[in-house]
Amino acid sequence: MDLLETLRQYHDSGACPMHMPGHKRADLGGELPWQLDITEIDGFDNLHDARGILKEGMDRAARLYGSDRAFFLVNGSTCGILAGICAAARPGDTVLLPRGCHTSVYHALELRDLVPVYLPVPADPGTGAAASLPPETVAKALAEHPEAKLLIVTSPTYEGVLSDIASIVTLAHGAGVPVLVDEAHGAHLGFSPAFPGGAVAAGADIVIQSLHKTLPSLTQTALAHWNRGLVDEEELARQLAVFQTSSPSYLLMGAVDRCVRLLEERGGELFAAYAENLAAFDEAVKDLRHLRVLCHGNDRPEDHPDFFAFDPGKLVLCTRGTSISGPRLMEVLRKEYRIELEMALEDYALAMTSICDTRESLLRLAHALREIDSRLTDAPAELADGPLPLPPQRMGMLAARRLPGQPVPLEEAVGRVCGEMVWAYPPGVPLLVPGEEVTAELCRTFKRMEAGGVVLHGEKSAPPRTVWTVKNGGV
Ligand SMILES: Cc1ncc(COP(=O)(O)O)c(C=O)c1O
Repeated sequence: MDLLETLRQYHDSGACPMHMPGHKRADLGGELPWQLDITEIDGFDNLHDARGILKEGMDRAARLYGSDRAFFLVNGSTCGILAGICAAARPGDTVLLPRGCHTSVYHALELRDLVPVYLPVPADPGTGAAASLPPETVAKALAEHPEAKLLIVTSPTYEGVLSDIASIVTLAHGAGVPVLVDEAHGAHLGFSPAFPGGAVAAGADIVIQSLHKTLPSLTQTALAHWNRGLVDEEELARQLAVFQTSSPSYLLMGAVDRCVRLLEERGGELFAAYAENLAAFDEAVKDLRHLRVLCHGNDRPEDHPDFFAFDPGKLVLCTRGTSISGPRLMEVLRKEYRIELEMALEDYALAMTSICDTRESLLRLAHALREIDSRLTDAPAELADGPLPLPPQRMGMLAARRLPGQPVPLEEAVGRVCGEMVWAYPPGVPLLVPGEEVTAELCRTFKRMEAGGVVLHGEKSAPPRTVWTVKNGGV
């Protein structure tokens, strides 16, 4: 049964709501769908012990993606990542992960007091963005860390770069290590030959997908997939109950249900049209002289040997070597063309697309890029090609959190131990985490990022002006 339709029928039945929520389905205006917002009343199941309409919906999602079990998430991929890591690793365990993981991964490391081993990932020379995690790197890390209990991989990245999850899973499973894939940006993968396949089909143990990022669904909606083998199914369900509200929104769950049904019924047709629209965009940006669109137009995936695969739905507008920066390009598109992008970092700006983009909207972006490109000149690139410097780990994250500290001007913080997370948002990937040493190289990176228009965030201080350091070793 379609969850949203069932909610509508229930409202129309005239039942008198002597239960939560307090608005009692009265039409309080403001264009909110009050009438469909209910709680776990008879006939509407219970997310944390699903046996009826919600179980049906989750089973449908599992069938669509081919997982052994799927869970609806109403707090984004964030809660799925927290629950997945807590289900797969015990306190104090060693986990392998590339550094470019989302902050939610670091929050889970902190909650479980896990010992991170960071896996080096090459950077794309044109953008500085992270490339794929090489399976050889995984093999080496597994051999060097037989104590590792979990491998975490982000695929695709915010910028659309995928790793070879099938090979990585084979290696990890050979060592008895489960793999959790943060596929927050990849819920749309595998529905057409124009798009690479996803991590569920590649055999990952836990896969977390934000439906709201790349598919037509409401913000906060996501899925967690479980594949039989190395992670305890009931422990994952239990951890999801820890990190998800006990009053999940039926509107959000209804949106997930609708999204899954849409893909089931019309996925092939919608993704074929999407692929054609992206091909039209490609054709329209072929003649750019200064700007480049990563793996689109004249920039081909083969030009990026460090990419295992690329999601064509991501339009990474590369500005390196031109007279414009990523943040400035984002601003020009906003102010002159009324096109709002997802985010910008120093050397690129990112446009996200989906099956709901029309050919006109994509061609409108292509047209704007062509006009802007005609006004640009070449300019020497200022950035180094390597990945961001990894600071030395001086103590565990949780240990650093527990120490008293203070905000310190950036230059004075060099050599001290950081007591907070510092990141640029988007993409929400930490540049410094508690327990790491503030290095002179990082200071230079922060300042350069700020000068390039990137906004940095700290949990307790105001980077890049100040950083929170702890009153202990190195102070
Ligand atoms: C790579 C990655 N993982 C996880 C998340 C968290 O997803 P959500 O916003 O659905 O909680 C994000 C959000 O931007 C992300 O970029």
